[in-house]
Amino acid sequence: MIIAVDGPTASGKGTIARRLGEYFGLPVLDTGLLYRAVGYQTQLNHGDADNAADALAACDFPDDLLDDPALRFESTGSLASRVSIHPAVRAALFQRQVDFANQPGGAILDGRDIGTVIAPHADAKLFVTASAEERARRRQAEMLGRGVDVGYEVVLADIHARDTRDTGRADAPLLRANDAMLLDTSAMDITAAVAAAIAFVEERV
Ligand code: C5P
Repeated sequence: MIIAVDGPTASGKGTIARRLGEYFGLPVLDTGLLYRAVGYQTQLNHGDADNAADALAACDFPDDLLDDPALRFESTGSLASRVSIHPAVRAALFQRQVDFANQPGGAILDGRDIGTVIAPHADAKLFVTASAEERARRRQAEMLGRGVDVGYEVVLADIHARDTRDTGRADAPLLRANDAMLLDTSAMDITAAVAAAIAFVEERV
């Protein structure tokens, strides 16, 4: 069984993917982490995230970089969304994601293009979203929990910038697959959102 979970930043898709993984006993790949690693490695190399050659060179990052807490920084998320525009970067990360999706026993992947590009044959596809304002509130609360105090307007502006880059790029833009279930979590807490996701997947398999 392959489950694709796509959606914009701070929609809750990562938590939903993890909880689905626990519930169905499937391995989960957070594909955003791969793009974050490329963005961060570009910076470590003193490269420019907007330059395709610099970003491509950073695709050769060491595996243990995926465990670096710096990948979770908001600034790394922005770098990730800049390097992810380059088709050469997406191509370099493609096979790793396809292999994960097609492993025996099944898998769950969360990202932006799982249901459309990486695993169009997935058994269940979810497109998780929420209003930009609600996502900004969640992201700000999560950052405050980590002791990072950034104003709401700054967080909201970053969310808008990322949405624009992710939906506007030519290669594999953030897009709901035709056969994906739309799960708008704006008015739901995470428990309700996870329950809806589980119910949907159970119907499909
Ligand atoms: O999901 P996360 O916020 O960690 O992703 C960081 C960035 O990586 C996204 O804003 C997006 O630009 C990029 N990304 C992508 N394709 C994916 C996963 C993430 O382009 N499958």
